Amino acid sequence: MQSNSTALEQYRQRLLGVFSPTLVLDHGLGAQVWDVDGREYLDLLGGIAVNALGHAHPAWVKALAVQASRLGHVSNRYTSEPQIALAGKLLEITGAAPGGRVFFSNSGTEANEAALKAALRHPTGGTGGRHRLLALEGSFHGRTLGGLSLTAKAAYREPFAEFTGPVQFLPHGDLDALEDALKGGDAAALVVEVIQGEAGVIPLPAAYLAEARRLTRQYGALLWIDEIQTGIGRTGTWMAYQNPALGGPLDGPEGGPDLVTLAKGLGGGFPVGAMVAMNGPTAALLRPGDHGSTFGGGPLATAVALATVQTVEDQELMDWARVLGGRWREELANVPGVKATRGEGLLIGVVLEGAKATAVGEAAQAAGFLTAAHDPHALRLAPPLILTESQAQRFTAALPAIIKEAA
Ligand SMILES: Cc1ncc(COP(=O)(O)O)c(C=O)c1O
Repeated sequence: MQSNSTALEQYRQRLLGVFSPTLVLDHGLGAQVWDVDGREYLDLLGGIAVNALGHAHPAWVKALAVQASRLGHVSNRYTSEPQIALAGKLLEITGAAPGGRVFFSNSGTEANEAALKAALRHPTGGTGGRHRLLALEGSFHGRTLGGLSLTAKAAYREPFAEFTGPVQFLPHGDLDALEDALKGGDAAALVVEVIQGEAGVIPLPAAYLAEARRLTRQYGALLWIDEIQTGIGRTGTWMAYQNPALGGPLDGPEGGPDLVTLAKGLGGGFPVGAMVAMNGPTAALLRPGDHGSTFGGGPLATAVALATVQTVEDQELMDWARVLGGRWREELANVPGVKATRGEGLLIGVVLEGAKATAVGEAAQAAGFLTAAHDPHALRLAPPLILTESQAQRFTAALPAIIKEAA
């Protein structure tokens, strides 16, 4: 086996330079991973909110192996039992109204493409609908040109601005700005993240969701919630919009969103995404031929996703995310050098005093902890939901020295 440094040099010679990985990981177990040099890390990032069950969880491995031994791919000319079962489970856990339907994709940005197409068909299900979209400052909705159109960060969007659509970015959490934008009557949809992950773990103000639901309904726009990072139990409820701590529950036939997009934690590490049209009218927006995917909703992805969702439920990992996350945020907030913590459940932003988050992230990795630092002042933690209390405490105990080392 090659060392980290040799393999990373080969990576740089062979792969497009859009990422800069810092380790070559070899294997994992639970919340621990090992690199090719044999060094152990505590994975507090979980593949960026993906590995809900950690690494090599027996239920996940079994579902993949059993399905692979039966049927790996069938195309969308045919279907398979796991696809139908997972769709049923997603309609249940999102609180979709009767008439709601699911579309499967392979990733988050593709789930958003499906929702975007549905939104562009609103309200008629044909052409000539409302074509302006509303999104929030700080948003991140993916890298394909549709997802990118809805992504606020100029550095990502502007190089491709010519091919992005008409989107108005509204101040985060500002309900007056939302009402002003909706008053024009030409907005097809408002898309929001209940907690913005990429922006540094920024929750919406508690009053926003219910009011946004009321206003979008009043002015005839769809409410589309991007749960790609927050969904499948990460914040302590299946969906973040169901979470009382985040201004929920926004649920049920009357109060739910119109469109919900999922990916990341849904497959626990297997690529899968989903767009849930939450009621009959939104499910009717896309008609035969309007959208498709060769791989989306294949038997492997849906069998593994079903096992992931079932394990989150059976092992009560949502409750654990809420309990552990609540205690851990409090403990982390008391660490010298930490200004505050943000987030809910096991999606946590650790806001640092003075220190640069990238430097703290590097020092954390050197000390054996994987984290992320997309916001210059906040570390992002999105560990597997199976993280134990003693593992969380190991990081809390190590953090003062890590911050000092980074300073
Ligand atoms: C809220 C949100 N939406 C969309 C995406 C895009 O998902 P993917 O990278 O699977 O395309 C992400 C990824 O980080 C995300 O956090």
